[in-house]
Amino acid sequence: MKVALDLAGFEEIPTDSEVYVPGRNVRKALFGIDIGAAELVMAKGQGYDAVIAHHPAGGRIRLDAWKVFERHMDQMIEMGVPEAAAKEAVRKKAATLEIEAHSVNYDYLPSVARHLKMPFMNIHNPLDELGRQLVTDRIRKSISERKEATVADVVASINTLPEFQQALTEVKVRHGALSNLAGKTVFSHAAYTNGGYEVAKTYYKYGVDTVIYIHISEPDLAKVRADGVGNLIVTGHIASDSVGINPFIAELRRRGVQVDAISGVIQA
Ligand SMILES: [Fe+2]
Ligand SMILES: [Fe+2]
Repeated sequence: MKVALDLAGFEEIPTDSEVYVPGRNVRKALFGIDIGAAELVMAKGQGYDAVIAHHPAGGRIRLDAWKVFERHMDQMIEMGVPEAAAKEAVRKKAATLEIEAHSVNYDYLPSVARHLKMPFMNIHNPLDELGRQLVTDRIRKSISERKEATVADVVASINTLPEFQQALTEVKVRHGALSNLAGKTVFSHAAYTNGGYEVAKTYYKYGVDTVIYIHISEPDLAKVRADGVGNLIVTGHIASDSVGINPFIAELRRRGVQVDAISGVIQA
């Protein structure tokens, strides 16, 4: 966990990441974007010392992870959105996520891991933040301050990262057009889940021309399209998660841990 926090520049463990079953002397670890009971049993049978999931897999944080959604506010304020408008943009979906978390069987996977005596943890926001920084840097370097940069230039810059080249998904312009000027551009990621219609709408209202999400629901996309302003690029969930996961796996390997990656990780 400390390795991930250091890579992302975090001081504290965010409320969507947790050690469910602690472990020591980890020499061989299994990493997966999603981990289920079958993967825990498989890891036990194959002699792994620990299992690391990306997505929240239970515990206290399965109830509190929605709080990370409020990081959209920080990102919006950084892009020039007034604080009150940023707060309003996250209010509804944060409340929905909190209500829905109540239905979750939060101890299902941790209980299986405890029963197997398999050290088990998940690391979500630190790795998403790492991915956000890497993709944002790549876009900035490529389009820099060029006023004439288009949405196509932004898509091309994202596609220079190997994870996007190897993914089965493609980076898609879901709203707007490749030939449009990109203008002020934000990679909106690392806030538990996508900001949906409200966050995109608020970016457009306060001067952001191009919003990039890693995924969006169809009803939210329909609303963005109905408003008819701005551009929306969608990069693909698993490719985008992999961008932040790979430097973490590389760092663990550098420190002598054998890490095998399954469950979606695109090892670029
Ligand atoms: Fe992620
Ligand atoms: Fe994800």
